[in-house]
Amino acid sequence: MDVPDPNPPPNEPSDGGQPEQGDDDSAFEEESQYTDTESLRSSIFNFRKEHGRTYHVYGSTEHWGPNDDLAQEQQDISHHMWSLMLRGELYIAPVENPHRILDVGTGTGIWAIDCAEKHPEASVKGIDLSPIQPSWVPPNVYFEIDDFNLAWVDSEKYDLIHHRELLGSVPDWVEFYKKCFQALKPGGWIDCAEPGLWFDSFYVDLGPDDPYKQWSNGLFESGNQVGMSFDVGPFVKEWLEAAGFINIREKKFCCTVGKWSKDPWERDVGSWNQLRLVRGVEDFCSRRFVNQLDWSIDEVEILCARLRQAVKNNTLKVHQWFFFVVGQKPMESKEEA
Ligand SMILES: C[S@@+](CC[C@H](N)C(=O)[O-])C[C@H]1O[C@@H](n2cnc3c(N)ncnc32)[C@H](O)[C@@H]1O
Repeated sequence: MDVPDPNPPPNEPSDGGQPEQGDDDSAFEEESQYTDTESLRSSIFNFRKEHGRTYHVYGSTEHWGPNDDLAQEQQDISHHMWSLMLRGELYIAPVENPHRILDVGTGTGIWAIDCAEKHPEASVKGIDLSPIQPSWVPPNVYFEIDDFNLAWVDSEKYDLIHHRELLGSVPDWVEFYKKCFQALKPGGWIDCAEPGLWFDSFYVDLGPDDPYKQWSNGLFESGNQVGMSFDVGPFVKEWLEAAGFINIREKKFCCTVGKWSKDPWERDVGSWNQLRLVRGVEDFCSRRFVNQLDWSIDEVEILCARLRQAVKNNTLKVHQWFFFVVGQKPMESKEEA
């Protein structure tokens, strides 16, 4: 993948404990105390600030989610839920003895770190727009700030490529999967995990003012406005097919929101989903609702407060689908056959 120039300087840099650049552009003068790499590095850390949250500055596309401590905590809660859903596994691809693994859009890197611990013999790389990964990590995992929506340079390198919760972040999924295809070794696997956008209840009519519907509709509309849909999970299978993958398998999980199921495992996963949503609904929608739908931040907060109430209400018996899809790169591509 290419390393492009970072975005223009942010509107309101956060302090972030990083070297400060003054309002003048002295950091870019010949006599600068910073090398080019250091300048690039410090601008990557000068996060954009919007309504009290911080966002990445680097990359060709604008990610919807904040990258501050609150958002990182939420991602780690989500990771626990995803792992419970897979009963402790990290992926479902039937890959054997992977040597090189790539986690695309790694976030806090928690999946990549767990994966490195599970496969000490493998090298695990995580890429993201935000430099929010820890530095105390197993020796076989490393992170790079990189943009998966730009051209990739890796070719036939990985045994396994994993992505999770990239909804709303990819303009063209078939193109994205073609890049993954190219980066995989022949016979390598892709493993995709995405939450469904819509919520429903088999038992209760959620009514016309249902905050779940308003929230999902808003994400759907705002994602489409920026050309990066949030409605991803149900389509992964056909996009993988279009990109040339074979042996595609899809597993769908119907996950409760909250602990209303009689089944102990479903109650457990459901209560983590509840926590993940209580902590995350605002992170998902705030930037898109304000910038694309012209909502005020107060309107966003009111909807999110109503939604959090609904999420905590176990009597609504709400559920949500989660999609796990795997595909394999053929041992021989069509051109070689
Ligand atoms: C919802 S988080 C999921 C993080 C992680 N995959 C997980 O499941 O724990 C989505 C991540 O994708 C990253 N992302 C979005 N667009 C990206 C891009 N174009 N290139 C690299 N990373 C990107 C974001 O910065 C964010 O950390």
